[in-house]
Amino acid sequence: MSETDDKTKKVYTKADSGGAKTSSMKAGKKKQKESTIGSIILFFIISLAVSLIIGWVIFPELLYSKKEQPVDFNHSIHAQQVDNGCESCHIFREDGSFAGVPKLAQCSDCHQEVQGDSPNEKVFVEEYVLKGKEVPWLIYSKQPDCVFFSHTAHVKKAKMECAVCHGPMGQSKSLKTYEQNRITGYSRDIWGKSIAGNKENSWDRMKMDDCAKCHEKETGRKSSVQTGKDACFMCHK
Ligand code: HEC
Ligand code: HEC
Ligand code: HEC
Ligand code: HEC
Ligand code: HEC
Repeated sequence: MSETDDKTKKVYTKADSGGAKTSSMKAGKKKQKESTIGSIILFFIISLAVSLIIGWVIFPELLYSKKEQPVDFNHSIHAQQVDNGCESCHIFREDGSFAGVPKLAQCSDCHQEVQGDSPNEKVFVEEYVLKGKEVPWLIYSKQPDCVFFSHTAHVKKAKMECAVCHGPMGQSKSLKTYEQNRITGYSRDIWGKSIAGNKENSWDRMKMDDCAKCHEKETGRKSSVQTGKDACFMCHK
């Protein structure tokens, strides 16, 4: 209370002591105010830039650990070598179930020895074929263990193209770096490339909602995720 009184007093005494002094003082005060606003804006811009860098660059770097595939695989070379397209390697077994990533036995007929001068083929033949060791492929689309997914239902029954969920992987010349979420342990392909979770293509992301949204679109049936009819145990066993 007394402090404010003192300040008011001071201002009055100063204002009394001559006009010239007052106006220069006012200008000074104005400048001071402008520079304060200036530094607030500057501070805001710098903080914004810092948080954007943390959010879009540093956070994903910290959140995902990167792993290279044990052998690089070229889908596009092999498409011309096999007779039965994708299903030459990604076979459906007799019982209708999907075998997923091919086993070594499906490769060794063509790769008993190094044929070309590709360093990838050399590694593949020397480290795996000749030693009879399965390649520990990293699975980009791997869902958590609690999720039940059937390729037979989607590819055989519903006649869906691989690319709808996997993108142009079947035409790729090289395998991309595998990224694993350090917190959940899931592949980055579940959440998707975009940190904000944006989705442009049907294969950009494969979270619970993405499964459910397509089911609603394709069948008109809402799932339990959208409090519709399909039970949780359709996808969780
Ligand atoms: C000569 C064998 C071969 C043929 C033919 C082949 N693939 Fe593959 N494919 C592989 C191997 C080996 C991998 C393992 C790489 C990996 O870990 O993803 C793979 C991985 C994939 C994956 C990634 C699975 C994942 O989530 O990691 C997709 C999708 C895929 N193939 C689609 C296709 C499509 C579509 C075609 C047909 C256009 C095709 N493939 C033809 C051998 C083959
Ligand atoms: C029908 C025969 C055939 C089958 C089956 C086959 N390959 Fe090949 N593969 C080839 C031919 C031909 C080349 C090209 C050889 C060269 O390097 O000149 C090749 C090239 C490669 C290369 C080197 C390509 C590069 O990156 O430059 C790798 C690695 C490879 N194959 C791995 C595999 C794996 C893993 C499988 C099993 C999933 C497989 N191949 C199945 C015929 C086959
Ligand atoms: C409706 C979406 C969808 C379609 C269509 C689809 N996939 Fe998949 N695919 C998935 C999902 C989801 C997974 C992960 C499954 C899991 O982890 O249980 C997967 C996993 C895979 C894997 C890895 C399996 C493993 O060994 O763990 C391969 C290889 C693959 N898909 C290839 C294909 C090919 C080839 C086609 C076309 C013939 C195809 N997919 C069609 C959604 C799909
Ligand atoms: C259309 C298929 C589908 C249905 C129906 C579904 N889920 Fe899921 N759920 C998934 C998939 C795929 C994932 C993994 C990807 C993710 O985390 O979004 C998942 C993940 C989860 C998780 C997180 C588990 C983890 O380890 O990350 C919980 C909890 C869950 N679901 C509960 C439910 C409940 C409760 C229901 C019923 C109200 C339900 N889900 C119905 C597909 C489904
Ligand atoms: C792009 C569309 C699409 C996506 C994405 C998709 N599905 Fe489906 N799914 C279908 C269609 C179409 C059917 C067949 C529906 C029917 O006729 O009942 C189906 C059927 C199923 C069935 C029932 C199989 C049966 O007949 O018992 C399960 C389980 C299922 N999907 C799980 C999943 C899970 C889990 C995911 C996500 C990881 C997923 N789906 C993603 C389109 C999709």
